[in-house]
Amino acid sequence: MYSEPHHEANGATPGESLEILSSVLLPTVARGAIVRRPAGEALVTATDSDRRLVSTLRALRARHGDDPLPLRYMGRRIALVLAAEDVRVLLRGTPDPFSPGGAEKRGALSHFQPHGVLVSTQGDRPHRREANEHALALGRSPHPEARAIAAHADEEARALVAALRNAGSLDGVLDWARFSRSFDALARRVVFGAFAARDRRTTELLRRLRARANWSYLAPLDRSARSSFLERVRANIERADPDALAARLGRPGAEERPEDQVAHWLFAFDAAAIATFRALALSTSQGTVAEAVRAEGRTEDGVDLPLLRATLRESVRLWPTTLVVIRESLRATTWRERTIEPGTAFLVMSGYFHRDSTRLSYADSFEPAIWTDGRAEHEPAILPFSHGPAGCPGRDLVPLTVSFFLRALLRGGPLHRVDEAPPLRPHELPASLDHFTLRFSYQGTAQGGIDV
Ligand code: HEM
Repeated sequence: MYSEPHHEANGATPGESLEILSSVLLPTVARGAIVRRPAGEALVTATDSDRRLVSTLRALRARHGDDPLPLRYMGRRIALVLAAEDVRVLLRGTPDPFSPGGAEKRGALSHFQPHGVLVSTQGDRPHRREANEHALALGRSPHPEARAIAAHADEEARALVAALRNAGSLDGVLDWARFSRSFDALARRVVFGAFAARDRRTTELLRRLRARANWSYLAPLDRSARSSFLERVRANIERADPDALAARLGRPGAEERPEDQVAHWLFAFDAAAIATFRALALSTSQGTVAEAVRAEGRTEDGVDLPLLRATLRESVRLWPTTLVVIRESLRATTWRERTIEPGTAFLVMSGYFHRDSTRLSYADSFEPAIWTDGRAEHEPAILPFSHGPAGCPGRDLVPLTVSFFLRALLRGGPLHRVDEAPPLRPHELPASLDHFTLRFSYQGTAQGGIDV
């Protein structure tokens, strides 16, 4: 039924606004948008914030209807997206009328990639986007450099397995610090070539800049650290191996600003590391699905590992690394019953949609099949890599790269979870999985007493 659109500055009551602040917005900020904070992650897990986020948004939708819910905090106009179909409208309507930029993202990313595609103006966006899509081979399967990527993953994982196995029973523990060091080296290899495996300094500089970026425009730019970092990236691009990703971009200084694009890649590989560590937890869990995943790792030798790729995608669906996808409206936009003012930041909270058990029978299950039988593709609000013209151009490359790394780790022998948390139950997965606390070992007994 058609009803007259009406303007609404604040669709929620003061009580609801407070609840949204404490259950939805603050936990997201506490975790760190650009680099995860261990304390924030622990707090979110301890207070079950991810589950509260889902129930809060579900209740708001029941009370206020399907339209995005407009709110105002400290003068900033935002709208919470509540219906899956509206996610499609927003992502397809990018970059006009829904810009992927916005003040907070510009403020955050200019700390280390002032000319990255994500924060580029309308004039520069198309050719920078094209350069990213080409280098990362979006929509091409497998990536033209799949074999080189597999070789890097094998080499890095083999070194890690050997270090764990040689460490003796007391210290052979794969924790986050060890895992992420190895994954960072893998990222530098894939981006620049084998020579960059030891270039930890570039990653360290980036980490420092990202810590500032968590504060967006509230933290002053550290121009000197930024130029040292971008200078190192430039030098590595100049030396890149011919089969490395950076060699698929233009030369530093070109209009595409390859150094800024590569800065984004190095930053984004951190999300891939988190998702991979959680995927390892899924693949070493109980049940027939996990067993099939391990069997693929043990037996398949080529570059096509569909179950391992789907395991990575499931990891990001179940525990999204991009907690919120944001679009800012350039004009007033009309929805079913509301017209929402221009300059509103529309927030798509991925956890709310990915874990919507009223819509998805597999909401809390490990179900890699949804990525091969079309279910995930036809669901507009499953958006671990987002979609549309500003969706992640790495969404094919990441699962591919990770599938090789997981295979090599699984081939290292039976791997067990050895932390204190209860084993993952494949149909009742927890709302949060704090990657900082996961621990695995090739020695000892599996959690729950089974060997995998
Ligand atoms: C688990 C790992 C990753 C996840 C979950 C992920 C997810 C995302 C998401 C949700 C966006 C925002 C899209 C939007 O606003 O609609 C994005 C943007 C982007 N991602 Fe990824 N990403 C990952 C890793 C990577 C990697 C490794 C690369 C590069 C090698 C990459 C390259 C990019 C670029 C260039 C953009 C900006 C696109 C644009 O504005 O047009 N991502 N990613």
